[in-house]
Amino acid sequence: MTKKLYISTYGCQMNVYDSARMADILSPLGYSLTQEPANADMAILNTCHIREKASEKTFSELGRLRNLRKAKEEKGKGDMLIAVAGCVAQAEGDEIMKRAPYVNMVFGPQSYHKLPEMLAEATRGAGQVLDTDFPVEPKFDHLPDEAIDTNLSAFLTVQEGCDKFCAFCVVPYTRGAEFSRTTADIISEAKRMIDGGTREITLLGQNVNAYHGLKDDGKSASLAELIYMLSELDGLQRLRYTTSHPLEMTEELCQAHRDVDILMPYLHLPVQAGSDKILEAMNRRHTGDEYRRIIEKLRKYRPDLALSGDFIVGFPGETDADFEDTLQLVRDVKYAQAYSFKYSPRPGTPAAGLADQMIPEEVKSERLARLQALLNEQQLEFNRTFEGKTIPVLLEREGKREGQLVGRSPYMQSVFVQSPAHRIGRIANIIVEEGNANSLRGRIDTGSAQDVA
Ligand code: 5AD
Ligand code: SF4
Repeated sequence: MTKKLYISTYGCQMNVYDSARMADILSPLGYSLTQEPANADMAILNTCHIREKASEKTFSELGRLRNLRKAKEEKGKGDMLIAVAGCVAQAEGDEIMKRAPYVNMVFGPQSYHKLPEMLAEATRGAGQVLDTDFPVEPKFDHLPDEAIDTNLSAFLTVQEGCDKFCAFCVVPYTRGAEFSRTTADIISEAKRMIDGGTREITLLGQNVNAYHGLKDDGKSASLAELIYMLSELDGLQRLRYTTSHPLEMTEELCQAHRDVDILMPYLHLPVQAGSDKILEAMNRRHTGDEYRRIIEKLRKYRPDLALSGDFIVGFPGETDADFEDTLQLVRDVKYAQAYSFKYSPRPGTPAAGLADQMIPEEVKSERLARLQALLNEQQLEFNRTFEGKTIPVLLEREGKREGQLVGRSPYMQSVFVQSPAHRIGRIANIIVEEGNANSLRGRIDTGSAQDVA
């Protein structure tokens, strides 16, 4: 008999990857995925702790699930197991147990491979099950072989955790120390993904360019070496990696952007702030000019490289002049895309202790609005530069409109075209007709060789 599994995923791509692995692990136990929490036999919230807002959602979602569970039981449709996974579980496991005693299981990002055991324990009526250890043996060794993503464009976790300890960030505490998978593991997973139909792989890691996994000869490989190895695989057409730290942008990795043809000309390289004083207080360990030089170097090797970033406004002690430095850095670098946030103090992080230097909410809001206006302007400007150009687009799925397909450009833009569905899975040359704020619109270049393929 099949049981229904509902997973709600918050936060980063790593959580999306983890949720898919949880579904794979539970599938041999008879669980199949549902989008409908009301009928679920088991509901998992895969949570994010990065900012306060993200973390608050956990408790409101839990309340909603509790009501759905009651309704299900009252209809005589049996119980619903409720689990909290991910970084809120890791950071606030005990608190969840106390505040929501109806939750059956709480487990962190390093424990989900033990789901079958935890499930057995929970259904035996052992009370609440809590597992927020950082095990010595990495979970990757325990994942079933089938547990892979074979979407056309798919994610592959190569590295996890972070040793950087930026003063605002919970990741080193929730995801733990840096850990890199071996090259053999990654290559075998990549091959299985490609066999299953994947054409574009994004290598995932909280600090992906700090990757240092072991090779077969017992020495460690850099991310650049791993990229070269993966670029040899037949059938793989595109490669990306995220998220990177400026300090780990080695010469070798920058050069890979020139030398590896399947490595896409897009890089998410967060800088967080432009003021040297704030960068130091954030423990980023580089200056604004050092970041600018990295960008110059990358653009020397790959002139069309599109950049994306993350920014925090209103970090404790940020003056108007500091914020101006952030705006100036954005003007200098010119981003194709970016994410920006108001600083949110996270319990247990060093910056949360700077209570006397906190920035008022309205100042943060005003700075965020100014920064986002500039970033949006840059994004639109970037997209407009493509009007009239022809670019290769990996057509991924049908769009909302009749006869429409949606794909991605090498620069991560969403591209909309009118085309029959049989082109899904192909890289088609698209003549861009319009560059909009968040996407491109174009038409298939029917005269091109790639379309005939
Ligand atoms: N407050 C605001 N933004 C944060 N980020 C991480 N921690 C915080 C915080 N405490 C942002 C950073 C990071 C992105 C994933 O989330 O910009 O790069
Ligand atoms: Fe957090 Fe900094 Fe590590 Fe990124 S590099 S995960 S911001 S501690």
